[in-house]
Amino acid sequence: MDKTTINHSPSPGALASDPKVAEPVRTEFSWAAARAELDGLPGGGLNIAWEAVDRQVRAGRGEATALRWLGKTGERREFSYAELARLSDRFANGLERLGVGRGDRVCALIGRVPDLYITALGTLKAGAVFCPLFSAFGPEPVRVRLARSRARVLVTTTLLYERKVRAQRAGLPDLAHVLLADGEDGADVRAFQGLLDAEPDDRAPPRTTAEDWALLHFTSGTTGLPKGAIHVHDAVTAHRLTGRSILDLRPGDVFWCTADPGWVTGVSYGIIAPLTNGATLVVDEAEFDVRRWYAILERERVNVWYTAPTAIRLLMKAGPEPARGHDLSALRLAASVGEPLHAEGVLWGEEHLGQPFHDTWWQTETGAIMIANDPGHPVRPGSMGQPLPGIEAAIVRRRPEGGVEFLASDEEGELALRVGWPSMFRGYLDDEERYRACFADGWYLSGDLARRDADGYFWFVGRSDDVIKTAGHLIGPFEVESVLLEHPAVAEAGMIGKPDDYAGQIVKAFVALKPDYVASDALRKELIGFARTRLGPAVAPRELEFMTDLPKTRSGKILRRLLRARELGLPPGDLSTVEGEET
Ligand code: WT7
Repeated sequence: MDKTTINHSPSPGALASDPKVAEPVRTEFSWAAARAELDGLPGGGLNIAWEAVDRQVRAGRGEATALRWLGKTGERREFSYAELARLSDRFANGLERLGVGRGDRVCALIGRVPDLYITALGTLKAGAVFCPLFSAFGPEPVRVRLARSRARVLVTTTLLYERKVRAQRAGLPDLAHVLLADGEDGADVRAFQGLLDAEPDDRAPPRTTAEDWALLHFTSGTTGLPKGAIHVHDAVTAHRLTGRSILDLRPGDVFWCTADPGWVTGVSYGIIAPLTNGATLVVDEAEFDVRRWYAILERERVNVWYTAPTAIRLLMKAGPEPARGHDLSALRLAASVGEPLHAEGVLWGEEHLGQPFHDTWWQTETGAIMIANDPGHPVRPGSMGQPLPGIEAAIVRRRPEGGVEFLASDEEGELALRVGWPSMFRGYLDDEERYRACFADGWYLSGDLARRDADGYFWFVGRSDDVIKTAGHLIGPFEVESVLLEHPAVAEAGMIGKPDDYAGQIVKAFVALKPDYVASDALRKELIGFARTRLGPAVAPRELEFMTDLPKTRSGKILRRLLRARELGLPPGDLSTVEGEET
């Protein structure tokens, strides 16, 4: 029997005598067994890229298609596992020649093109740390992440380099090499292709250990600059296992993950999980388009599809007509992640695609799926599903004096996971304090509010902090507010998520002007334009409202909760709570 078969524990609440201490029960599952299913490196150690490509070549699947790339303008390119192994070897050799190796950060700021996948895999083989940057970020989020990661290498394109990096290069002293996927060697840049061409396409196996750093993913909190969540090579244990048990990936499957590798889903499930399971990864370079997406599902005979509620809502909005007439009979499983997936979305999938969407829950910090509607059980529409084998989840309340208290079924609280799964982040880069603040009593506290029903299914309630999700992207208020504050007219700025039928939430800013400035439509447009230029369209406010004063605590902290209440037309709430936020 396959060791990865789902084996859910019984409902935790049913076994505990006192519902207040309904701690989940351990299952028979063991991570050691999951780890033993991996190849491992000759002579010991573990490497994500080795498991993703070389392992498949060694298992005789070298000629199978690893990557099927669909270009914006109709081009198609296929890469076999053997080719991807060779190309990533070359890139690893090139990095080594540049003196880049263990622990060094290699950032990628590039769209969904084959060079991105070669970069990710080659970086991992070289023992360096792969750090993706979303290509729709503006110059400011790019600068902050390059500086905070102390990136030594950046792989990008001429256009993205010129628009977002070149003018800031002097402020990035660690950035020794910029490699252009479409460029030539120049004064301060090199051709990516030239680097590959100069290298032999074989290489000794990597020398990484399971606990060596592998991936750095930036994510946002309520306060301060983005946090760099560090993941190690052992994360592949969870990527492979969840790809198999939750996404049902088997060798030869055609798998399409629509997430951009600029975010964690696009790396964990857009690269690692499908390749370690021997699937063919479909990569579409283009942005969302209803007709294009149906055509891809049909023409590529996609077996497993992993997408997000924003896309599902846009498909629903387009109605059943564009779906009609497409042969989607190859589709065996559809899954969703990143935002709340309402029951209507699940059922719509069933009716119009022939498959219900299986909701899954996880975070940048968890590295892999933690809670899911798994393929072995009927979907519970509207619920995120149940914790995976090997994962213990609970609903807790943080005690003011420290530690956590476990809540009973149907009570709302913070979603917590007992520490110890392989893809758990190992730190926030250079921020031990914020890392520590995520844990209490051996539990990781997710910052999400949720509840668990009597059958052990988890239901999303909201966030306990001020980050928002817009079109599936996590945005922190600090980055948006600090850019607005750089404009000479702005005295105070506050950002919230305004509910939106399609994007889930949109970024809305509230601004108080300095004394010499007068609110006007022209100034509003100017501020939105200013923010777009600096932050990029994915992060900049869509809406901006002027206020004479922003609500603040006595110490001057902006009360975004009151801005949200104002936006939704709700009563501002109990002022004593507001004072409580001071501390
Ligand atoms: C946050 C994490 C999802 C992995 C990639 C994004 C929200 C995630 C769900 C879901 C409702 C969800 C949570 C979480 N989220 N999955 N199924 N239902 N909300 O990782 O950018 O770190 O975002 O996304 O709020 O904390 P991320």
